[in-house]
Amino acid sequence: MSTATSTPSLVTLPKIAQERYERLSSRTANIGVIGLGYVGLPLSLLLCEAGFKVTGFDIDVKKVTDLEAGRSYIFRIEHTEIETARKQGLQATTEFSKLSDMDAIILCVPTPLTEHREPDLSYVENTTRAAAPWIREGQVIILESTTYPGTTEELMIPILEKENTQGLKVQSKGATAESGVFYVAFSPEREDPGNTTTARHDIPKVVGGHEEIATELAAVLYEGIFTRSVRVSSTRVAEMTKLLENIYRCVNIALVNELKVLSLKMGVDIWEVIDAASTKPFGFHPFYPGPGLGGHCIPIDPFYLSWKAKEYDFNTRFIELAGEVNEAMPAHVVQYVVKGLNQHKKSVNGSKILMLGMAYKKDIDDLRESPSLTIIELLREEGAEVLYNDPYFPTVGRGRHYNLNMTCTPLDNLDQYDCVLIVTDHTDYDYKAIVAQSKLVVDSRNATKGIDSPKIVRC
Ligand SMILES: NC(=O)c1ccc[n+]([C@@H]2O[C@H](COP(=O)([O-])OP(=O)(O)OC[C@H]3O[C@@H](n4cnc5c(N)ncnc54)[C@H](O)[C@@H]3O)[C@@H](O)[C@H]2O)c1
Repeated sequence: MSTATSTPSLVTLPKIAQERYERLSSRTANIGVIGLGYVGLPLSLLLCEAGFKVTGFDIDVKKVTDLEAGRSYIFRIEHTEIETARKQGLQATTEFSKLSDMDAIILCVPTPLTEHREPDLSYVENTTRAAAPWIREGQVIILESTTYPGTTEELMIPILEKENTQGLKVQSKGATAESGVFYVAFSPEREDPGNTTTARHDIPKVVGGHEEIATELAAVLYEGIFTRSVRVSSTRVAEMTKLLENIYRCVNIALVNELKVLSLKMGVDIWEVIDAASTKPFGFHPFYPGPGLGGHCIPIDPFYLSWKAKEYDFNTRFIELAGEVNEAMPAHVVQYVVKGLNQHKKSVNGSKILMLGMAYKKDIDDLRESPSLTIIELLREEGAEVLYNDPYFPTVGRGRHYNLNMTCTPLDNLDQYDCVLIVTDHTDYDYKAIVAQSKLVVDSRNATKGIDSPKIVRC
């Protein structure tokens, strides 16, 4: 938990904001978190731990029922953590009328892409509509969902103003209303799932209000749970900050993916190159190649900006190129499976392939946008029989862009497979034993680093 004390406000607060400020800084405030998924649930737990009274809101009845029964539905969160939070006052509900009792409301709902790869803001819009009738004077409403600059001001605020039942307006910039207003801010979630080196509360929290009072209220709330907050001048700056971070990752991953493909042709080990380059004490930050991008952020968020850029007749060339390179990686992996099988005088058609790892990255239980899904589809198109093993997924059913109905295959009798394909380098796998027992291992993650065997095809 954070040990930070709140920074005294630099802004003169009107009475209605001052009351909220005091409740937020003394951590006696009621906080509503809407959307209890990978972002909203851990955030709720942090808030509870800090002493806030937290009510979680979701339209998913199962999640609400689980939480009310003290059960976790996210792999890395233990049931005991939910039980502890319940004792600290965590409640979960589908009843949005309870939002009226909150001092602050934080929205953590999905922001995916549509079938046409355009921003799907329907979750943000629907949630804002559902919340609007229940907002009250002086509340601060914070959006955490990743989105393009302008969403908070162009989409959220107009709905909140139009559809609240009390004639409230957002606090306008440069003014200090004494009544009849609510406050709005944007603060991006910057969590890195599976990262065990930086505690979540040590990731500085960027906060940008629609105006100064909103920034102060949101910042003092987050300073109760994060070691540091970073105040920025507007919601747009905060929205763009998150996109810059994710585009930076997306573009650099594309760069190393492209160099990996070239290095393979040149007979150079790209992972050894990256390790050597990483010894430079300045000017180089390592990124690693892989079978393609996954997760709810890096493959999606950059396209929120390229879509918005069109409004300004601007073509975001880096984003498009990175997308093109990264999206070609699953096909690259399949190409190396074909090559590996060829070396064994086998065709991919009719081959039995065990894929290791379904998750989009190691040691997590998240399948969204995982390259494994595309790789299965491509291998099946070529006539392969594909099975999978992943300790985080006993079964894989139906999702937004897939319908697989598969069950996890035990990790034994590996010599029955024509190829074992490593897509996710989970820490728990014993790669030495896997190589020893398999006929052919295609490794898209350098998980077999240090193992010298003619059975391994690295790609
Ligand atoms: N998962 C991450 O690691 C991560 C990291 C940084 C940022 N983000 C961003 O955070 C946001 C949320 O992502 P997530 O991974 O937590 O998504 P998620 O799908 O895990 O959770 C979203 C939750 O919102 C709920 N929901 C949907 N519509 C709702 C509505 N109208 N009212 C109430 N609840 C509703 C869903 O039932 C679900 O429980 C996204 O914008 C994402 O880009 C995610």
